[in-house]
Amino acid sequence: MTVRGRFITFEGLDGSGKTTQIEKLAAGLRAQRIRVHLTREPGGTPFGETIRHLILDSATSRLAANTELALMFAARTQHLDEVILPALEAGDYVLCDRFTDSTEAYQGGGRQLGSKPVLVLHRVLCADLQPDLTILLDCDLNFSLNRARHRNLVTTAAGHRDENRFEQEDRDFFSRVYEAFHAIAQREPKRVAVIDARGTPEETHQKVLATVQQRLKVVLSH
Ligand code: TMP
Repeated sequence: MTVRGRFITFEGLDGSGKTTQIEKLAAGLRAQRIRVHLTREPGGTPFGETIRHLILDSATSRLAANTELALMFAARTQHLDEVILPALEAGDYVLCDRFTDSTEAYQGGGRQLGSKPVLVLHRVLCADLQPDLTILLDCDLNFSLNRARHRNLVTTAAGHRDENRFEQEDRDFFSRVYEAFHAIAQREPKRVAVIDARGTPEETHQKVLATVQQRLKVVLSH
């Protein structure tokens, strides 16, 4: 497989500010006339968005951890086939809000399935495609959970889609997710850049830009 574009993923706990940061980076890259596909997981295709709705809706209960794992990969393989690989082959940038590291952190760590099944499935189903760069937004566990819960109360009250199922998990679940993300960063320091996201969105954005420039050797005006 010849991959010519750049694949950048954003990872972190719910409420870590990923969505804001990925949008800001997309705008920065587009300002340099770089073609950017902004996408997300679970989701990114009509099929994937249907799976997203099923998995994240808090009305979905008693889903076995392995079912959750399989659904994440079902959405991902379609996403790779329909969106990510064609874009990379066309030489574009793909910015993806979560990828397999989230499965390792949430299903592997949070649901305690371990990293092994996630890494094996990634090899078998996703040809072991690795991002060129993964930005792990690091912020305090309590802060990000409070932010995620507040955001969900507001969006649900406004009649938007309920995506609260994971946010109803307890603190121990999210501590395991947090630990798993950091274990991945320690294992793969060349791919994963840990960025302190406790400052303002603009401060964090400047750190993201500097990291992208440094690691991918692109020139971006600040
Ligand atoms: P987000 O897109 O708003 O961050 O929410 C997606 C949720 O789905 C988040 O709680 C993390 C969870 N998730 C998994 O559990 N496993 C996965 O593989 C992915 C991509 C997301």
